[in-house]
Amino acid sequence: MHVNEERNLVGQVLGDAEIGHRGASPKLTFRLRHVNRKIYTLRYSLSSRTGMEIVTRPCRPGDEQAPSLVAQATILETYAGIANGDDLITYVNDELRAPDFARMLVNDRVRAWISETTVGKCPVGYAVAVSDEGSELFSSFELKRLYICCRFHGMRIGKRLMEDVLACASQENSEKIWLQVHEANHHAIEFYKRFGFVQRGVDLFHAGDNSYRVLTLALTL
Ligand SMILES: CC(C)(COP(=O)(O)OP(=O)(O)OC[C@H]1O[C@@H](n2cnc3c(N)ncnc32)[C@H](O)[C@@H]1OP(=O)(O)O)[C@@H](O)C(=O)NCCC(=O)NCCS
Repeated sequence: MHVNEERNLVGQVLGDAEIGHRGASPKLTFRLRHVNRKIYTLRYSLSSRTGMEIVTRPCRPGDEQAPSLVAQATILETYAGIANGDDLITYVNDELRAPDFARMLVNDRVRAWISETTVGKCPVGYAVAVSDEGSELFSSFELKRLYICCRFHGMRIGKRLMEDVLACASQENSEKIWLQVHEANHHAIEFYKRFGFVQRGVDLFHAGDNSYRVLTLALTL
């Protein structure tokens, strides 16, 4: 079997095998977390073995098509079956079109990063940080977006983007990073906790005609 076919096949199996632990007992939750971690390790070693290279870099004005594409793809992957389809369409049209990113990329209060394949320069992940208003620039900021295409989960791309965000925080002498994550997005919540984020509250996120419960997590630096 060609190495790419093998990678796709194993990628699909791993994608199918990824397990959520909503509603499970503490003992089962512990076991499932262990299984998920094994899946992550396997995916990472697979990506190294097949030589799939991904680079992460800051976004510049003119890059807006790439983050828009990956933003729209990942919002659907992440929330299909959790959120209402019309709300997702409204959200994408209001916030994730290329002109929205074009505006962000020239705004001093925004930093953005993109992850791309070295071969073909396909965008597969991105992150956006937005400085809070009314304080010194980036003394406190929201990690507004951190999304990786699901075929590329577990390849340490999220970790690399988070390291870029943390490096930016260190350069700007930031004191706090905060974010909001859907309460059912256990996968992402686990990921953030590994970087030291702790829950600070529960809030409502409005999209289209509905509101969704989100956890507010924060990291004090
Ligand atoms: C959450 C997300 C950003 C993580 O990115 P990723 O590239 O898949 O994660 P990485 O491969 O960088 O993992 C980094 C580390 O966290 C671990 N990890 C990641 N997710 C984990 C999970 N659900 N459970 C346990 N460990 C996890 C990995 O094992 C790895 O640890 P290691 O370096 O010690 O081996 C990614 O899965 C994603 O984009 N999800 C969908 C979008 C989303 O929900 N974004 C957040 C919206 S608020």
